[in-house]
Amino acid sequence: MTLKNFIVFEGIDGSGTSTQIKKLVERDLNKFVATAEPTKKETGLFLRKMLGGDFSVDSKTAAYLFAADRCEHIYGKDGVIDLLNQGKIVVSDRYFFSSLAYQSVSCGNELPRLLNSQFPLPEILFYFYIDPEISLKRVEDRNEKKEIYEKIDYQKKTAALYEEVINEYSKPELKGEMKIIKIDASKSIEEISQIIWQNVQGMY
Ligand code: ADP
Ligand code: TYD
Repeated sequence: MTLKNFIVFEGIDGSGTSTQIKKLVERDLNKFVATAEPTKKETGLFLRKMLGGDFSVDSKTAAYLFAADRCEHIYGKDGVIDLLNQGKIVVSDRYFFSSLAYQSVSCGNELPRLLNSQFPLPEILFYFYIDPEISLKRVEDRNEKKEIYEKIDYQKKTAALYEEVINEYSKPELKGEMKIIKIDASKSIEEISQIIWQNVQGMY
């Protein structure tokens, strides 16, 4: 199943998804709504603590937690479905593709696939690809406390798994269900913003 008017941005840390979502939403603040995973709900705040290193969980538990937060994001009060029903175009920073990449690095791909197999597809998926050395440098230049996955080895493995996942979802059978746009995230902020706008403009 596909959720019409639901747009997802994916990529490793520092690839620039937050920057682009902000620019897209600012084009029409009445129509676009930005959301993100982890969410700002209790489930997401719990995950933020885990990502910040306040506590650690088994890698399989992390896969369950991200999936539970996702369930709130989509089906919970004021979640994606509610917003779509209000006529909004919902733009999310990360979705289940993040779990298929990040969690699969540490717990294998079986459990993340199982836990995420029932979530609806977005209408458009923007996938930002970039050399992990460049994106991690951007993260470091932000001068914020690093989260647990923001290490070069983990980012490289995640990038490789993202490629696999994107290839898998690019298969012809899924063509009518979700449009995948690959973005060279080493381009300038303005160039990327134009490419995104060209692909989204037709939605209204
Ligand atoms: P993400 O949300 O994917 O982690 P951000 O959008 O927060 O990434 O960007 C990370 C950092 O890189 C920010 O400081 C941002 O200003 C910068 N940045 C974003 N896009 C680009 C780009 N295309 N070129 C150079 N720097 C960028
Ligand atoms: P995000 O807020 O996008 O990172 P940033 O601090 O760069 O803005 O995402 C937080 C982290 O959570 C990021 O390292 C990716 C990770 N994550 C997963 O591992 N699995 C998931 O399912 C999701 C949604 C995020």
